[in-house]
Amino acid sequence: MLILTLETTCDETAAAVISGELRVLGSVVASQEELHAKYGGVVPEIASRAHLERILPVIDEALRRASIAPTELTAVAVCNRPGLAGSLLIGLAAAKALCVALQIPLIAVNHLQAHIYAGRLAAGGDIFPCLGLVVSGGHTSLYRCESPLAMQFLGGTIDDAAGESFDKIAALLGLPYPGGPHLEKAARTGDPRAYAFPRSFIHDAQRLQFSFSGLKTAVRYALAGQGKPLPIPPLPPQTVSDLAASFQQAVFDCLVNKALQAARREQLNTLCLCGGVAANRALREQMQTACDGAAIRLIIPPPQLCTDNAVMGAIAVERYQAGLFEPLELEVFPGLER
Ligand code: KG4
Ligand code: ZN
Repeated sequence: MLILTLETTCDETAAAVISGELRVLGSVVASQEELHAKYGGVVPEIASRAHLERILPVIDEALRRASIAPTELTAVAVCNRPGLAGSLLIGLAAAKALCVALQIPLIAVNHLQAHIYAGRLAAGGDIFPCLGLVVSGGHTSLYRCESPLAMQFLGGTIDDAAGESFDKIAALLGLPYPGGPHLEKAARTGDPRAYAFPRSFIHDAQRLQFSFSGLKTAVRYALAGQGKPLPIPPLPPQTVSDLAASFQQAVFDCLVNKALQAARREQLNTLCLCGGVAANRALREQMQTACDGAAIRLIIPPPQLCTDNAVMGAIAVERYQAGLFEPLELEVFPGLER
């Protein structure tokens, strides 16, 4: 079995070829970072146009790296939910065209489930049942995962996603786009106790939710009091580092505590931490320490499988084996999924 997986949910155009034994034969990720940098965030219209230009060369390159011809493919899988509508449509149209031309089945992939499945790939063996925590630019969500095909939403953010708040605070501090990795770097030389920022719901074990908008406002007020204009960057480097470290620590305290509370409530002893923010080294270390203390097996994909990629679309192998195929009328579902 050879499945071509496509990922175009946001601003990465990615394709991979995966075997039935979950071997990655070829993988390509074309980032659009430089196109969106000057706007300080992803511009949906620019993203879909860039996907349109890149999708065919990216597919060609993935097949070339896998040393296979299109006619050798068994199926095509595509992320059709959730994501930016225009971006999703490009991947879906490409997938459908290939399926028609090659007369092979179409498989739908849920982007959030694929993020969790990256943990299964990293573990090299079964990880289910497990608790899944997806922490990305668009999501901060907890799932009870019985199997790759049965994931139940337990709770998530009621406002901003953790990754989005990283990007917004990075911009506030005058750090380059995309903010997450730059904020992590600045935080390394900062004092995480320099500022006392809020940690929403952290002591309420029954409430499996996150909120980061109040934290964002608190950082803004730490920079300039309410009603006062923000200082013009560049800010003093130590101020940036201290704010970055204190902000990052507040986010991570929420993620670590909620993950452990959810694992306890759901009686799950495996945690899969995934999504772009899980590429952060400090988060990886802190979650590991907490899980060691609670006798929880922690699985985190390597950083390149945390951020968006098509390899995690390997969850399509599970769907293929379960006979879950889609008609060519398949649509995109941009909205936030539960
Ligand atoms: O999973 P992902 O690539 O795309 C979405 O599905 O959203 O996640 C992207 C998010 C961005 O907000 C980015 O700033 C954040 O992940 N991110 C990080 C790091 N690397 C990426 N956040 C904190 N520390 C990092 N090292
Ligand atoms: Zn993602």
